[in-house]
Amino acid sequence: MNIVGILGSPSTPSRSAYLLELALSRLDAITSSYRSIRPRDLPAQALTQADFGDARLQDAVRAVGESQLVIVATPIYKASYSGVLKAFLDLLPQDGLRDKTVLPLATGGSPAHLLALDYALKPVLSALGARDILDGIYATDQQLPSRPEGGYSAAADIVERLDRSVQRVAARARELREREAELARAASARANSEPWPAERVRWSV
Ligand SMILES: Cc1cc2nc3c(=O)[nH]c(=O)nc-3n(C[C@H](O)[C@H](O)[C@H](O)COP(=O)(O)O)c2cc1C
Repeated sequence: MNIVGILGSPSTPSRSAYLLELALSRLDAITSSYRSIRPRDLPAQALTQADFGDARLQDAVRAVGESQLVIVATPIYKASYSGVLKAFLDLLPQDGLRDKTVLPLATGGSPAHLLALDYALKPVLSALGARDILDGIYATDQQLPSRPEGGYSAAADIVERLDRSVQRVAARARELREREAELARAASARANSEPWPAERVRWSV
């Protein structure tokens, strides 16, 4: 399964980046390729002026197009997802998330904006064609405390919720593998079938 992570934080270090990495570390077994997109690292002028001709933007948009699972991780800013994430999502084609499974993740300073995933981010994901949007995970800064040696850790309930989402993703990956195997079987059956002998064709329309 090709996985793309889109990280909406303009900061570093970043709790939403940590949450994204935590999700990915649990998806190792089903990942065939992983690509991380950090809109903050894309050329700022191209991003803010929606320059679709920029090679790095094109490459990032293409990576999303080629993925089956998209994990969108964002900090909550002013009761919504981050502006730099919106700048990137605006560059995706209108149906840029069609047929993809999407896992939304957010971190916020307090639980006050827990619903921002539902009222702000999910409508945008649906507008981009996503129909398979997994339950989002919202973690407060308190649930992702800093470690004295650097980095962050996660409260047990956040890890538990991530594990539940990962199980759903693993089920989708299994379905995808089965569908691909079925398509490959059908293609090979078609390739191996005897061509219809021309002399037996009586008429055609
Ligand atoms: C400009 C700014 C606006 C913020 N607005 C909110 C907010 O409206 N609600 C909230 O819960 N937290 C808010 N926060 C806190 C961040 O969402 C929180 O610290 C988050 O974990 C930061 O994620 P990051 O480390 O990945 O950037 C804000 C932080 C900043 C810098």
